[in-house]
Amino acid sequence: MCGIVGYVGPKPALEVVVEGLARLEYRGYDSAGVAILSDGKLQTEKRAGKLANLRAALEQNPRSADGIGIGHTRWATHGAPTDHNAHPHVDNTNRVAVIHNGIIENFAQLRVELEERGCKFRSETDTEVVAHLLSEELKERGDKDLGAAMRSVCRRLEGAFTLVAICEDIPDLVVAARRNSPLVVGRGKGENFLASDVAAFIAHTRDAVELGQDQVVELRPDSVTITDYDGAPAPVREYYVDWDASAAEKGGYEYFMLKEIVEQPRAVADTLLGRVAVDGTLTLDEMRLAPQELRQISKIVIIACGTSYHAGLIAKYAIEHWCRIPCEVEVASEFRYRDPILDRQTLVIAISQSGESMDTLMATRYAREQQSRVLAICNVNGSTIPRESDGVLYTHAGPEVGVAATKTFLTQLVACYLVGLYLAQVRGLKFGDEINTIIGQLARMPEQVEKVLSTVEPVRELARSLADAKTVLFLGRHVGYPVAMEGALKLKELAYMHAEAFAAGELKHGPIALIEDGLPVVVVVPSREGRSVLHDKIVSNIQEIRARGARTIVIAEEGDESVRPYSDTLIEIPAVPTLLQPIVATVPLQVFACELALAKGNDVDQPRNLAKSVTVE
Ligand code: G6P
Repeated sequence: MCGIVGYVGPKPALEVVVEGLARLEYRGYDSAGVAILSDGKLQTEKRAGKLANLRAALEQNPRSADGIGIGHTRWATHGAPTDHNAHPHVDNTNRVAVIHNGIIENFAQLRVELEERGCKFRSETDTEVVAHLLSEELKERGDKDLGAAMRSVCRRLEGAFTLVAICEDIPDLVVAARRNSPLVVGRGKGENFLASDVAAFIAHTRDAVELGQDQVVELRPDSVTITDYDGAPAPVREYYVDWDASAAEKGGYEYFMLKEIVEQPRAVADTLLGRVAVDGTLTLDEMRLAPQELRQISKIVIIACGTSYHAGLIAKYAIEHWCRIPCEVEVASEFRYRDPILDRQTLVIAISQSGESMDTLMATRYAREQQSRVLAICNVNGSTIPRESDGVLYTHAGPEVGVAATKTFLTQLVACYLVGLYLAQVRGLKFGDEINTIIGQLARMPEQVEKVLSTVEPVRELARSLADAKTVLFLGRHVGYPVAMEGALKLKELAYMHAEAFAAGELKHGPIALIEDGLPVVVVVPSREGRSVLHDKIVSNIQEIRARGARTIVIAEEGDESVRPYSDTLIEIPAVPTLLQPIVATVPLQVFACELALAKGNDVDQPRNLAKSVTVE
């Protein structure tokens, strides 16, 4: 989730662009860069690290500030966060500069083709292929139609992207394209802007145009022309932005957390991008662990903290079921103190959104000292845990600002499923078509999460009605148990109330004594298909607690009529395969905790006593 800014007009372009980048700071930074086209000369500057590093470089080496400009803050996906991987990327003639947000799925294949034609690559990014392709296209066309060149290049790209380009031969023109990635235009008088979101330009104009899917915009000081990839005029949505700057950063939501919950379908889709090779096999590029090594693994240990630990608990069900490898899951802070049994045949999977949690880092170091191989699942490219691990699988959720993890949790689940399927593939435990069937089911998840999000209003009402509750219990079975744990954790973190999760089968061994009249109990019901035994058992558990006075809040598959008679509130979720259910079942629980906390007047982005990344043990 990078930040993108573009400007054409009479103001000093460099200033407008850098100022715009500063307003996109919440999108996270690991590097930043600008390209300015002034007096027919294209100049770029880019630096790893925060925007301050770029500003310092610009001060040391002053550039012409006039002309047109584009700027970028990077949240690395392909290639580490370094100066040379920072955007903009230029072609070999240094005439075309490109910035990009998203993932170009077929970049590896395009890169090979370009290298065969003599292109020299200067970065490890997927973005650089676009600079070279645009350059080739302009040369072939023999004209200065950067818009047409962009349309033609976009037709060859797969994945999700917002691309912005300028060319030294074409003053006064910024061209941008969008597919599955945000892009908004700001219309001014004699000047125009574009950005990943309106926060970048609302200091200058509030008249915005939102680009649709697969559209290209040509931005000149006096005109904004929008077409589809074939050059036909395209329908767009024009609107007036009445948010202030801080609301704009949050996309109009009051809190980042609310925005991040809504971003989940995109985050899940992005994490799945680029994982299947042309021949249909699953390829995890950054994995760095050879298939041979993975075939020798005899045990898996997952280490993580907080929400990431819950992702690990769910991963265990999938990995053991698909791969038949014993899998332990442990909170990272306990791991190294119990003298765990580790050897070269143990694969340790360290799950950490930030890649900086000290507990998980220490456990990672310990595992490596014991000769185990460590695979990190992480959302922050280049952070410490993936750097110190043998391999990594990045989730592509984009920066998460809210302290309580939401979109990163769903993407961790996707990453865990991918690891499970990859292990099954390299160990020959599943046929290609079986793996592809599950990948296909995962590919439908963004749509299913979207569906859940469109039906959560009753969950919000319920949460508000429970603002005075003293305690809420959560029950689940199988993968629904860690989902229940995540629901309880969210409520503790955000609403500061007592919440506890139990495996529904354990109820009779103690927790049932807690049930009293009116006590809210949330129950996550497994799908009816596949694990029907579990389903029937949990229906009995619901009956047991209801008979003792509990107020039952039941999360079940749509059409599951068997639970309706025992549900005080029934929250329906789409029917999906058993092992994938956590992706949809967690969402109402996030909404529930967030809304209940808001009803209590809490700050859901920065809950008391908590930090997003805990770098002490
Ligand atoms: C902190 C956060 C939690 C998070 C945990 C693990 O405690 O408040 O929301 O789940 O750290 O963070 P990590 O970055 O390692 O996933």
